[in-house]
This record gives sequence, C-alpha cells and structure tokens, in this order.
Amino acid sequence: MEKLLKTAQSLFKEAPNNIALLANASAFIMDNFPYLNWVGFYLKSDNYLILGPFQGKVACEKILINEGVCGKAFFNNEVIAVNDVNLFDGHISCDSNSKSELVVPLVKNNHKIGVLDLDSYLFKRFDEETINAVKAIVNALMGSYNFSS
Ligand code: SME
Repeated sequence: MEKLLKTAQSLFKEAPNNIALLANASAFIMDNFPYLNWVGFYLKSDNYLILGPFQGKVACEKILINEGVCGKAFFNNEVIAVNDVNLFDGHISCDSNSKSELVVPLVKNNHKIGVLDLDSYLFKRFDEETINAVKAIVNALMGSYNFSS
C-alpha cells in the first residue's frame, strides 16, 4: 500500500494539468486494483456532475447532484461503498456488468470538486482495505489538483 501510494504521488506530481492528472489517475487505479470494470471522475458543473476522464465502457455524461450513488456521495460529502448495486435505491446503471461500487468525493481546501467512481463486476468488491487505499490515493490526487489548470 505504501509503495502504491508513493508511485501514485510521483505520477500525480508530473501532471501538467488537471485533465492529464485525472486521466492518468483513472488508468493508474484501473491497473492496480483488480476486478474493476469502470473507474472515472465526475466533476461538478452547476447542478450536475459531468463525466470526466475515465477507463471503461461509455458512461452517462450527466448526473444530477444528489442522484445516484455519485450524486449522493457528492451531496453528502461522504464515501459510499455499495455491496450490491441492485439494492441501492436510485442507483444509475451505466454498465450492466457493474455489481458493486465505491464513490469517493473529491474535496480540496473545502471546495467540492466532484467524485471518483469505481465499479466492480464482483459483488462486495470494496472491503475496508481497498476503501482506505483509494481514499489515500484521492488524498494524494487532491494534493496535485490545480484550481487554475
Ligand atoms: N452508478 C453511478 C453512475 C455512474 S456509473 O457507474 C459510471 C451512480 O449510481 O451514480
């Protein structure tokens, strides 16, 4: 985990702008966490979360804030891990292969930027260890996120 975090930190430091940062972050997570079918970002714009850099199948482009797992995690500023997406009221299905999901809000200097969304084709993919690792990576990511790029 520490090694993974260090690699992430040096990768993120190299990013010339936020698109490059988020694009490589999604690829890095997809590469280093098994059993995922989708990893990507949704970024706040007015009342919506808009699709950002991602890895995986084509996904919904706009999610209303407070809708779906992403909108709820963003609105409440909380990490949400869903063991079975079929049991989450209001889950937005982009890829029918997705069985469980983890959404981590992106916050920097008290500004809510968006969310990181991970989907797995396995039920109950997101155990505590994975959640903590992803949170640490998001923390490193926010360290390199630049409001003016
Ligand atoms: N399942 C998400 C929508 C985004 S996709 O999974 C890529 C949700 O309920 O917010």
